[in-house]
Amino acid sequence: DEDSDEDSDEAAVSPATMSKVEDFLLPFQLSREKLREVSSKLRKDLIRGLGKHTHRRAPVKMLPTFVRDTPDGTETGDFLALDLGGTNFRVLHVRVEENLQKVLKMDSQECAIPQEMMQGPGEELFDHIAACVAEFLESIELKDKVLPLGFTFSFPCEQKDIDMSILIRWTKGFACSGVEGQNVVQLLREAIKRRGDYDIGSVAMVNDTVGTMMNCGYQDQSCEIGMIIGTGTNACYMEEMRNVKRVEGDEGRMCINTEWGGFGDDGSLRDVQTEFDVEVDRTSINPGVHTFEKMISGMYLGEVARLVLIEMAKKNLLFGGETSEALLTPDSFETRFISEIEEEDTGLEHAQQILTEDLGLPAGPEDCEIVRLVCDTLSTRSARLCGAALVTIANRIRNNRGLTHLTTTVGVDGTVYTKHPHYSDRLEETVKALAPKCNIKFMVTDDGSGKGAAMVTAVAQRLAIHSKL
Ligand code: GLC
Repeated sequence: DEDSDEDSDEAAVSPATMSKVEDFLLPFQLSREKLREVSSKLRKDLIRGLGKHTHRRAPVKMLPTFVRDTPDGTETGDFLALDLGGTNFRVLHVRVEENLQKVLKMDSQECAIPQEMMQGPGEELFDHIAACVAEFLESIELKDKVLPLGFTFSFPCEQKDIDMSILIRWTKGFACSGVEGQNVVQLLREAIKRRGDYDIGSVAMVNDTVGTMMNCGYQDQSCEIGMIIGTGTNACYMEEMRNVKRVEGDEGRMCINTEWGGFGDDGSLRDVQTEFDVEVDRTSINPGVHTFEKMISGMYLGEVARLVLIEMAKKNLLFGGETSEALLTPDSFETRFISEIEEEDTGLEHAQQILTEDLGLPAGPEDCEIVRLVCDTLSTRSARLCGAALVTIANRIRNNRGLTHLTTTVGVDGTVYTKHPHYSDRLEETVKALAPKCNIKFMVTDDGSGKGAAMVTAVAQRLAIHSKL
């Protein structure tokens, strides 16, 4: 199908080899029928996750976020935004301006989180965060101001309210002790108190998907889905309160953080998982957790590719049957290599360079082409799986509202989506094919987890004021 038109001017891989390669990669090919099955499994899991009694054991957690409205454009004010969820921690000063319809990032600062800290005691992590915020406030001379704060904390949390958020479990390589089961807001406040040199105002806890939706929602009020395809993958959307059985009240809507990364944790995706997916899961720091995410997101995609390349070399389909020490080292095939190798014009050159220089492999033009096909196959599978999941959510919104046709906007962020040359096209293609009744517009948001967190805080303030009037 796609990309076949460009094959003609590439160094030819012999038809016999190509057919062996294609056979080898067959388990990664997901037919439209298979994708429909995936979508329909997820549809049932969304319902399980929302149910009052079924949610405890549901693989897709469907977490209430206590975000009850998207922006209406009247929000305004100055905020601090914190962002934790990848390898860096960020702190931002954000201004929401009403008449300008703008969210402005005034200043920001990043602090690296060393690997040891990601898996060390939680107290040290929060002390580090509090110190980074102190340094930032100092530098912009706001240490004496008490600003409301939006905390983008991109891990599954059981929220009791907008400012009470209990970490269910770490994902994406974090494993700090003493944080799971704890209220993250309290851990932050305690760390700030231990320092005693500044204070913070009200806190709103935000998942990155929610920040992304809210940031996009400021510009486009039909934005009701937020999706991340980066280090991890996840989505949130606006659900009818009457279906959110774990929170009191039937009126209006609430944003639900699906945590779709956990899809398949009950074994429901066994028929689409390959032996390589099983191996990536087995050797991860959290086996059995976030099965869907491990087939899709940036933290794992390169590792799946690496295992595939090793096996193909062993089967003499690549590198004249050779491997290298580098290739045999976990995580040596970075996910960004996939994007670079699939680049339209420069991809094969990149492949040559990566394979020989970064990985020390005896790679010829044929190998480069085959490796490119491997990358194409894995990133396409990722995009299609995400597409199938997104369709499930769009159709749910459509059914909730009794519509025959839904037009909606998805706010998107994450390096896999934004940096890969063909990812967004493939995802859209899948969505169009699987959901003819939905017209889905994609909007890449710039810095959802920073500005979006401020937006969540601003909307929460607006609603709080209104409820008091
Ligand atoms: C992981 C986290 C989730 C987050 C996603 C994208 O799946 O569990 O909370 O939204 O990564 O960063």
